[in-house]
Amino acid sequence: MHSKSQDTWLIELDSCASTNSWAMERLPELAHGDCVWTREQQAGRGQNGRSWHSDPGVLTASFVCHLDQDQLGPLMSLCAGLAIAHCSEDLCPVEQVHIKWPNDCFVRGRKLAGVLCEGRQCGPHFGMVIGIGLNVAPEWSEAPAGSHFNGRPPISLRELGLEPATALSTVLRSLRSYLLQAIALLRDQRWQALLPGLRQRDCLLGQHIQVEQRQRRITGIGAGIQDDGSLLIRLPDGGSLNCSSSFSLTVMDVVHD
Ligand code: BTN
Repeated sequence: MHSKSQDTWLIELDSCASTNSWAMERLPELAHGDCVWTREQQAGRGQNGRSWHSDPGVLTASFVCHLDQDQLGPLMSLCAGLAIAHCSEDLCPVEQVHIKWPNDCFVRGRKLAGVLCEGRQCGPHFGMVIGIGLNVAPEWSEAPAGSHFNGRPPISLRELGLEPATALSTVLRSLRSYLLQAIALLRDQRWQALLPGLRQRDCLLGQHIQVEQRQRRITGIGAGIQDDGSLLIRLPDGGSLNCSSSFSLTVMDVVHD
């Protein structure tokens, strides 16, 4: 059962398996800027084929966009990360939100949000679904063990000072507005205007990181987000690795000295 709210772009579901799956199945009927949000996600999907569990109070929503060409590389995820950062920084008295290339947002080394982008050709357009799981106000007595990163529990907007009275629709509207602004730049080939904001928030810069590429573990130092949205990693032998596909690479760990 689903309903369109007074915001014509918002489709509210009481429950569904995954907002990304729901939107992917109906992509040709959905408009650019539509958002599918659910109160309860029963089989959420995370990056790299993992399942993704969300407790009540975690915002689970997918935004639709139609593009002229495939954007399955890191750029769309980075646009989503920046939208999450701006929205969170507006709503909370928080220091900067950091982006862990290409899919996650962190504050104080703790995960705040994750992004899953998917897409397919829809007639003349390439349709994309940008799924966001954002810890708004989860009632965790203890965060689930699988949600820890580098041994640290996730963090939420509530913990960062979000006004308890903030309506979910306020968070969704802000996320959508920033996301559509970023996508408009991407569509106009002006996406490089987003680079300063991304580089300022890049939490892998200068960090010892371990990545997995085609089942091979590689250790190196994050050397920044490049002009095309790829991530550069300096290798111990003096060489470098340019990671442009978020699908073949997972940043497994930030290795602290
Ligand atoms: C991750 O951190 O691995 C990405 C998590 C993305 C979860 C969101 S919740 C809304 C949308 N629907 C899904 O099934 N997944 C994304």
